[in-house]
Amino acid sequence: MTRRIAVVTGSNKGIGFAIVRALCKQFDGDVYLTARDEGRGRKAVENLEKEGLHPKFHQLDITNQESIDNLQKYLKDKYGGLDVLVNNAAIAYKLNDATPFAEQAKFTIACNFTGTLDVCKALLPLIKPHGRVVNVASVGGTWALDKMSPERASKFKSPSLTETELVSLLEDFVNAASDGTHTEKGYPNSAAGTAKAGVIVLTGIQARDLNNDPREDILINTCCPGYVKTDMSSHQGTKTPDEGAETPVYLALLPQNVGQPQGEMLSDKKIVKWR
Ligand SMILES: NC(=O)c1ccc[n+]([C@@H]2O[C@H](COP(=O)([O-])OP(=O)(O)OC[C@H]3O[C@@H](n4cnc5c(N)ncnc54)[C@H](OP(=O)(O)O)[C@@H]3O)[C@@H](O)[C@H]2O)c1
Repeated sequence: MTRRIAVVTGSNKGIGFAIVRALCKQFDGDVYLTARDEGRGRKAVENLEKEGLHPKFHQLDITNQESIDNLQKYLKDKYGGLDVLVNNAAIAYKLNDATPFAEQAKFTIACNFTGTLDVCKALLPLIKPHGRVVNVASVGGTWALDKMSPERASKFKSPSLTETELVSLLEDFVNAASDGTHTEKGYPNSAAGTAKAGVIVLTGIQARDLNNDPREDILINTCCPGYVKTDMSSHQGTKTPDEGAETPVYLALLPQNVGQPQGEMLSDKKIVKWR
């Protein structure tokens, strides 16, 4: 039997790094720390080696299709698939960033939503029976859903929404942001929140699709790590990165055949209702 394998995106620092640290201690198999920048990634691996841990490294930029394809091929050739995928990588503009909202919306959706989706499109077909997938979102995504106009929210929350329709909604948000009409059209005034709303809704769709998949016992969920002291939060959070990693790691290591949670959003290991 080939070795089991876990991959964490955006794990050269912050919560992703802490997820790799925890998986190195708790997951029975190879754990891949991935980073868009090879130098930062290899340095992070060295830092974990100093703690006596042995993650492996592969480059991955979630906004670069060639990079995604390279990882997909590597996983297929070397392991014949994948057991655990944690989609953690994301960007966030600071509150006082002067970048126009239109640009923030474009780049935030491109990385946090579309990048995550593109990684899923390439790697979900490789997930083996009993595999676990975790999409790291944020309670900011549920707040964004709450702030949408009722009409807009009902589209995002529709139980029959397809992946293609969700992609169109996010594209519409970016277009509306570019001409300043996003709030008029019922979207919230938050690029980060809207992207994470997209990730939460996407996870529900992916779980629904998995119900028609012949592979046995694959669970996919999304979660909020909490307010965590990392570069993203300018180290203002209430949790350490190791504490922030707890819920994503809990979902990544759900025991075999538990059946649930499936397609849910969790915070502090508890389901958060958003629909
Ligand atoms: N911190 C919080 O309070 C908080 C709250 C709610 C949700 N979250 C979520 O938790 C996750 C981790 O956040 P964090 O606080 O650990 O942030 P962070 O410290 O800024 O780390 C983000 C990681 O993502 C990587 N990344 C960014 N763009 C990428 C790309 N295109 N391809 C691959 N990797 C990329 C970064 O790499 P570089 O070093 O190359 O930039 C970095 O490794 C994110 O999904 C975030 O939205 C965080």
